[in-house]
Amino acid sequence: MAGSLLRLHFHDCFVQGCDGSLLLKSIAGVIEGEQEALPNANSVRGFEVVDAIKAALEQECPGIVSCADIFALAARDSVAVSGGPSYPVQLGRRDSLTANRELANKNLPGFNFNVTDLVAAFANVGLSARDMVALSGGHSIGKARCNTFAARLTPDPQDPTALSSSYSSLLQQQCPAGAASDALVDLDVTTPIQFDNAYYSNLLSNRGLLHSDQVLYSTPGATRDLVNLYAQTNSAFAKDFSVAMLKMGSITPLTGSEGQVRNQCGYVNA
Ligand code: HEM
Repeated sequence: MAGSLLRLHFHDCFVQGCDGSLLLKSIAGVIEGEQEALPNANSVRGFEVVDAIKAALEQECPGIVSCADIFALAARDSVAVSGGPSYPVQLGRRDSLTANRELANKNLPGFNFNVTDLVAAFANVGLSARDMVALSGGHSIGKARCNTFAARLTPDPQDPTALSSSYSSLLQQQCPAGAASDALVDLDVTTPIQFDNAYYSNLLSNRGLLHSDQVLYSTPGATRDLVNLYAQTNSAFAKDFSVAMLKMGSITPLTGSEGQVRNQCGYVNA
């Protein structure tokens, strides 16, 4: 669940800011929820954990802690409990009254993106290329479905993003039916549940699971330099990741009397 919770915060913040909009359930004619957007459908996990946290909080201090803040805190604790850095989290976000499926489809980066697309997707929400490379280290934990990388299982030696042959054989065993397999595969093949810089060393040996991971190294330029830096120095990764998480957590939050503190994360208050 650590990886799933970290990803929920990211997918929340990239769509109209960190406002819990991802949690709102679709209601025909009222709310077109984000959970059915392409990058989220059958993919994002962990909502039941957020609901359980919210229920426990409502027992202790009703109406105080927003679902958007729960996302931010759960992401921080998921990283820390997995052995990564513990960074400060600002609080006071309020929950949205709306969701935006169209924006979720537009703003969330795709696993087929190249470096230019990735830099643009992060710039669109005010994050730098450095933030993008550091935050991609979120793939140090968690899992991906076979269909997100199945196209990479047919090796093309001319392709600089091609998987190493031993890694490709391993993945073929883990996804026997290719894209149709519903297996979940570790994003970081070396230290799958440890939040560390092994994600970056994997890229140096063509063991980045997603195309969007491997391009960070295979594309000459600033992103490759950062991958080399983070692969070499875990503390540089930990520092830049923490800075970038704080920035990501501050994307256009609702504050003060804007929005509301939802009673149940899936629904706007009656
Ligand atoms: C740079 C652009 C990114 C792309 C293209 C991308 C894409 C993906 C994809 C395709 C998956 C697998 C989804 C599935 O199985 O259906 C995934 C999983 C994941 N992503 Fe990303 N991601 C990106 C950035 C990030 C960022 C910024 C974070 C957090 C800081 C993050 C954290 C995660 C985690 C932890 C998982 C595993 C989730 C789980 O186990 O439930 N990703 N990502």
